[in-house]
Order: sequence, then structure tokens, then C-alpha cells
Amino acid sequence: MRLLSALILVLPLNAMAAALLPGDVENGKKLHDSNSCLSCHAQMTGGRPDMLYTRADRKVTNLGELMGQVSGCNKMQKVGLDENGVNDVVKYLNESFYKFSD
Ligand code: HEC
Repeated sequence: MRLLSALILVLPLNAMAAALLPGDVENGKKLHDSNSCLSCHAQMTGGRPDMLYTRADRKVTNLGELMGQVSGCNKMQKVGLDENGVNDVVKYLNESFYKFSD
């Protein structure tokens, strides 16, 4: 019983964390596809860039890591997205592929 009420408390909060991510999914897709994110990942995966985000042994396992990886690739590969752009892409990738709630 205690476990059940703990779950009831925790689940909506996690779902809210993802829903409350700042960012715009449509703009995120545009930025992702028109900057080098898509083309570089496509080269790495033999033309199936989505695979990087959906493969069983993907690196990113929660929202925090997703934010870290997007801003990491953005900086390391000099893609040049600003903070809003990074938020948009994180939201796009989470809603389309990762589907993390926390
Ligand atoms: C010049 C190449 C390059 C560019 C440009 C690039 N990335 Fe990456 N990306 C990589 C590499 C390399 C990895 C690591 C793959 C691995 O370790 O298996 C990676 C991994 C990732 C992952 C983690 C995939 C997983 O395993 O869960 C995400 C998310 C990601 N990149 C997002 C982005 C975004 C968003 C952009 C554009 C802002 C971007 N990347 C631009 C090369 C690139």
C-alpha cells in the first residue's frame, strides 16, 4: 500500500518533468535536420541517423544525459546552436526517439 501511494506521487511528477522541458519540437526537428547533426550521424550509421538514438546500446539513458550529449555534440562539433536551439533539439529528440520521463 505504501509502495502504491509512492508510485501515485512519483509518476505524475516524472511525466511532468518531460512535459515541462523547455523547447519547441518542430523547430528542434528543423534545427537538427538542417544543421550537421543529421548528416554527421547519417554518415556514421550508413544513412540511418535515427538508429543512433534508437539502437539497443545507445549511450544516453536519461534526460540529463540527453541534454549533456546534445550540448556536447553542439560544442565539440562546432554546430553553433544557441541555448534555445539546444533546448528545442533536446525536446524533439526526446519526444521522437528517447521518450524519457526523467
Ligand atoms: C561531426 C559529427 C557529429 C555532429 C556534427 C554531431 N554529432 Fe552527435 N554524435 C557524434 C558521435 C561521434 C556520437 C557518439 C556515437 C557513439 O559513441 O556511439 C554522437 C552521439 C550523439 C548522441 C547520443 C546517441 C546515443 O547513443 O544515445 C546524441 C543525442 C547526439 N549525438 C546529438 C547530436 C546533435 C543534436 C547534434 C547537432 C546539434 C549532433 N549530435 C551533431 C557525432 C556528431
